[in-house]
Amino acid sequence: MSPQHPEIQRPETPRRTERILADAAGIARAAEMLREGRLVAFGTETVYGLGADATNDIAVAGIFAAKGRPHFNPLISHFPDADAAFVHAQPNELARRLADAFWPGPLTLVLPRTPHSTVSELAAAGLSTLAVRVPRGEVTRELLVQVGRPVAAPSANPSGKVSPSDAYHVLRGLNCVIDAVLDSGPCEVGVESTVVDLSRGAPVLLRPGGVSLEQLREVCGPIAHPDDYAHKLPSSPGQLASHYAPDLPIRLDAQSVHPHEALLAFGPELSGASLVWNLSPDAHLDEAAARLFAGLRFLDSEGTRRGLTSIAVQPIPRQGLGLAIRDRLRRAATPSSGTPA
Ligand code: TXA
Ligand code: MG
Repeated sequence: MSPQHPEIQRPETPRRTERILADAAGIARAAEMLREGRLVAFGTETVYGLGADATNDIAVAGIFAAKGRPHFNPLISHFPDADAAFVHAQPNELARRLADAFWPGPLTLVLPRTPHSTVSELAAAGLSTLAVRVPRGEVTRELLVQVGRPVAAPSANPSGKVSPSDAYHVLRGLNCVIDAVLDSGPCEVGVESTVVDLSRGAPVLLRPGGVSLEQLREVCGPIAHPDDYAHKLPSSPGQLASHYAPDLPIRLDAQSVHPHEALLAFGPELSGASLVWNLSPDAHLDEAAARLFAGLRFLDSEGTRRGLTSIAVQPIPRQGLGLAIRDRLRRAATPSSGTPA
């Protein structure tokens, strides 16, 4: 009854984290590991990023697991140049001007996703926008060229800790949790990139960072600061995720399925549902995270088409990635109620 499972490759948890020197052979090896779906931290001009193939749901789920993030925040996709970025994010005229002025460099642009973008739903947290960035630095650029796919990378620190600005900081936080760190020395800027949202018409500064507000204003004129918008903007990035909510209401921690419900299953399926998406028949949380957004979309559209009235969700454990999955499902269940506790 479940839709087909994609081939899922689950790389083993590393026994130790390899420190790879950023010479030609090291860059090639790091790129190959990323293409295999492994987690590789790498230096950018801002901070070290925890990289994964942004088109591989399981690899992206690995980022959230490694960081111990309680929420699926949307991640920035990294590219070697603007042309590559604009395959996945739709530029407007202002985006092109900002890219010309600041890329490669510490600026991230939030733009509508292109319809053919292959970036995983999990990396984008189910949003219709995508954050894209072209970092500075020869090693970083060469790595991204060789990966040949968008690379998702939040800062390479455990959730709640400060961002790492050299490879040793990365190892201190994530040794034995990620596969490797490509050591290109200390970061030049040391604070994260400036994030500007261009998807709402007028540009909005979502996060101050390596490119200053003054520098931005020189290129794009007035730009709203989040403080000016406090009443209109989501107060945390996670709240953005509530922009995607299914039409069908969601019922969490279901112990049985009602006749007019679709079922979002986890582990052995409850009986009696006519429409089922199993997040992970063997109850693996990383697999479940990777299949969450696709499953919600499928049950919502197919369930609506078949006249079903809600989506029942089997209990998801409150541990590891289960917390993030539950958080996301609660947001989807109550789209207008803001951040749940
Ligand atoms: O300097 C940086 O930006 C570093 C390096 C590694 O590139 N990366 C980084 O990533 O700081 P992270 O995940 O820690 O921060 C990403 C920021 C978050 O504030 C997130 O909410 C925002 O970008 N973001 C990502 N996608 C977004 C979207 N579609 N809409 C709005 N904000 C988004
Ligand atoms: Mg961070």
